[in-house]
Amino acid sequence: MPVSQSELTQHFEHVLRLSRVDESQSVAILKSHYSNTFIVNAAMEAALRLKARAYIVELPAFNHETAMGNDLTAYVGHTALTDHPAAQQALMAADLVVDTMMLLHSPEQEAILKSGTRILLAVEPPEMLARMLPSESDKRRVVAAQKVFEQAATIKVTSAAGSDFQAALGQYPVVTEYGFADEPGRWDHWPSGFLFSWPNEGTAEGTLVLDVGDILLPFKNYVREKPVTLEIEKGFIKRIHGGFDAEYLREYMEHFKDPEVYALSHIGWGLQPRAQWTALGLHDKNDAIGMDARAFEGNFLFSTGPNTEVGGPRNTPCHMDIPMRHCTVMLDDLTVVEEGKVVAPEESLSR
Ligand SMILES: [Fe+2]
Repeated sequence: MPVSQSELTQHFEHVLRLSRVDESQSVAILKSHYSNTFIVNAAMEAALRLKARAYIVELPAFNHETAMGNDLTAYVGHTALTDHPAAQQALMAADLVVDTMMLLHSPEQEAILKSGTRILLAVEPPEMLARMLPSESDKRRVVAAQKVFEQAATIKVTSAAGSDFQAALGQYPVVTEYGFADEPGRWDHWPSGFLFSWPNEGTAEGTLVLDVGDILLPFKNYVREKPVTLEIEKGFIKRIHGGFDAEYLREYMEHFKDPEVYALSHIGWGLQPRAQWTALGLHDKNDAIGMDARAFEGNFLFSTGPNTEVGGPRNTPCHMDIPMRHCTVMLDDLTVVEEGKVVAPEESLSR
C-alpha cells in the first residue's frame, strides 16, 4: 500500500536517530536519476529535522554491456563511483551516507567505510521500509546470533530436499544487517535483519539442493520445479543440474564468462520476523530488490561471486542471492536453525 511522504519522513527520522545522526553530524544523500524521489526527500527532511548538515551527491547512471534487467543487484562491483575520486571524497567527507543508488559490493564503498563514514542503503519501496522499520530489538537479535557465529569454526547445512553442505569459517568477518548504521565505518541496509559470513577460501564442499519455493535473486523467482542441484567443490560451484530452473541459472551464470562467478560468497541465516517469504509474489519485479526474501526468519541464505565488501579479492559482477527454506544450519555442534525454524541462540528468539 502507498505510504505518505509525511509518514516516510517520520520513519526516516527514527532510523537516522538510531544511526546516531544529530546536530554534530553531516549526512550525504547519494542519488541518481532512478532513485526513489520520496526516499530522497524523506531522508533530506529527516536529516534537517535532526539539525544535521545535509547535502546531496548526484551521479549519472552507470550501465554495463553485460548487465541485464533493472535490478540493482544484477550487476555489482562497478558503479557510477568507479574512477570518480571527486565524488568519493564528497561522500567520505560525510559522517553518514544515505545510499539511494546502490554502491554495494564496490571497492569504493569499502574505501568510504574504511574512512569511518557510515553508509545506510535504502532502495526498497516505502511500504517495505515502513513494515520493516528497524528497532533496537532487531539489533539485539542479530548481534546475539553474531556472537555464536564468530565462535564457530565450521558451518553445516542439511535439508530433507537433499542438501548436505559444509564449510570452514574464520577467515572472513561476520557481517550483521539490522537496519541502521550506528557505528563508525558501519554499512547497513534498511530493511534487513540477518547476518552472514564467508566460507574460508577453498573449503566450501558438498551439495545444495534447491526445493520448490526457494528463491532465486535477482531473478525474483520462486523455484517451481525441483530439484536444482548445485555441486560444490573447493569453494566453487562445479555443476548445476535439474530441470528448467537449473538450466536457467546455469545459462545466466555462463553469460558473465567469468570463473569467479561460481565462487561461494556470503552465507548466513534470516532473523527478521516482519520479513515475509510470500512478499516477493506481491511485487512486480521492478518494484524492489526483494529484501523480504533475504531476511525472512529461518531462511538459509547463500550467495555467489564477490567478496570485496570484506576485503576479499573477487570483484565479479554476477551475484546470486539464494534464500532456502526448511534447512537445518549447524555451527560446529550448535543447531541455530532447525528445518527452517530459528532455535538458537536463545536471545535471537526474542522479539
Ligand atoms: Fe548478497
